[in-house]
Parts: sequence; structure tokens; C-alpha cells
Amino acid sequence: MGGGRLGLIVGALIGVVTVAWSADSEVLRPRVPSDQIESARAVTNPLPATPAVLQNGKSLFEGKAFCRACHGLEGKGLGMDLDYSTFKGPLPRNFTDKMWQQARTDGELFWILKNGSPGTDMAPFIPLVLTEEEAWQVLMYVRSFGGR
Ligand code: HEC
Repeated sequence: MGGGRLGLIVGALIGVVTVAWSADSEVLRPRVPSDQIESARAVTNPLPATPAVLQNGKSLFEGKAFCRACHGLEGKGLGMDLDYSTFKGPLPRNFTDKMWQQARTDGELFWILKNGSPGTDMAPFIPLVLTEEEAWQVLMYVRSFGGR
């Protein structure tokens, strides 16, 4: 194999790794503004992790709150019958991504349900669609996509 060809392959590999890395860092970038993130992270889910809470969360995710419309039945955010090209900002992420699950605290996710994710199609759901208690139920379900 000529040196030129090898250089090309190495170059392509570096390109692929860079794209994958920057996609990840965009997903993991905190959504809560830096002046609020400390107080947001201090908030914890007050509900016990019981099957009943999880079941309510699942019903909300798939039903009334319509999370599944954008995030998908399996929380993977893709493969839905949606025209994602109309979305502004980042697309719904893969909730089964363990790196993402670990990067976020429950309090940050709760902040998103209250405020939305500014500049994206993720709108606020509390209080118009969800009560705070329902939001914690649905977040328990979102966590279950990460296998916990
Ligand atoms: C109209 C489409 C849409 C609906 C409906 C929707 N979401 Fe989202 N959601 C998004 C998009 C797009 C993002 C990505 C925003 C971003 O990258 O900052 C997002 C982001 C999120 C995040 C934050 C991800 C992060 O990285 O911190 C959470 C949590 C979330 N959604 C939960 C829900 C829940 C729970 C529901 C139902 C109550 C819901 N979403 C309904 C489009 C939607």
C-alpha cells in the first residue's frame, strides 16, 4: 500500500473520530444556563422508584404528554414518522445513551421540563401539560431507558 493511500485512510479515520466526538460533546453540553445549573442540580426526584411510579411515567410519556411523538416509543429519538428537518436546533437525543444518562442529573432534566431547552423544539411542559409530580414520574421513566 502506498504512503499516500495510508495517509488518506488515517485522515479519514481521524475525521470520523472527530465527527463522532463533536456530536457527543454537543449532546452532552449542559442545557441549563450556567448561572442556574448549580441550583438545578441540587433538585432531586422526591418520588420513590416503585413500579407504580414508573408505570404512571410510561403512560404519560406515551399518552397525555406526547413525549413519544418526538422522543420515540423506545426513547431513541429517531425513526419516528416525523419530519425532523423542520426542527430548529438539536434533534431529540437517544435516551438509551449511557454517557448522556450519566451526564445529566435529575434536577437538570426537571429544569428542562419546566423551562424547555432554549432555542430548540423542546418546549416547557410544567405546568400546562404536566404537574410537578407527573413530571417526576415521567422522568423516572426517561431514566429507565438508560437501564436503571
Ligand atoms: C415537539 C417535539 C418534542 C416533544 C413533544 C418532547 N420533546 Fe423533549 N426534546 C425535544 C428536542 C428536539 C430535544 C433536544 C433539545 C436539546 O438538544 O437541547 C428535547 C430534549 C429533551 C430533554 C433534555 C435532553 C438533555 O440533553 O438534557 C428531556 C429530558 C426531554 N426532552 C424530555 C421530554 C419529555 C419527558 C417529554 C414529554 C413530556 C418531551 N421531552 C416532549 C423534542 C420534544
